[in-house]
Amino acid sequence: MADEIPWERLFEEALRVRQRAHVPYSRFPVGAAVLYADGSVVTGCNVENATYGLTVCAERNAFAAGVAQGQQKPVAVAVVVDTLEPCPPCGMCRQVMTEFAGLDLPVRSRTLNGSEARYSLGELLPHAFTRAFL
Ligand code: THU
Repeated sequence: MADEIPWERLFEEALRVRQRAHVPYSRFPVGAAVLYADGSVVTGCNVENATYGLTVCAERNAFAAGVAQGQQKPVAVAVVVDTLEPCPPCGMCRQVMTEFAGLDLPVRSRTLNGSEARYSLGELLPHAFTRAFL
């Protein structure tokens, strides 16, 4: 599956949804695109709030939208940010990804300049807390 992942399409979709980010406080728009096993792509952008702590990251919004669309098995995640170096997902988003994906989930992050970082979820969140402990 890893070879078949349409990364360019995912990054295009992440770039597109990033334009919809609601970021009046940070001015730091993020776009995320999640590919599911049936080929569906679900996107999300970050949505901030005047009570700053209610902010939800692009990645978590994409995963929540995926669940609402009946998708539970992500196979790849692409993130786009406008930073000098590619920006990895935050810790909360890593934990949410862990709820739905295995350690081998590929996560890639690109800047607007095309610089790219590649991770697996297991690299991003070793020793994850999962339902196996419950
Ligand atoms: N943000 C994301 O959307 N994803 C990340 O992985 C890191 C941070 C958002 C949250 C907030 O709206 C802004 O970026 C600055 O932290």
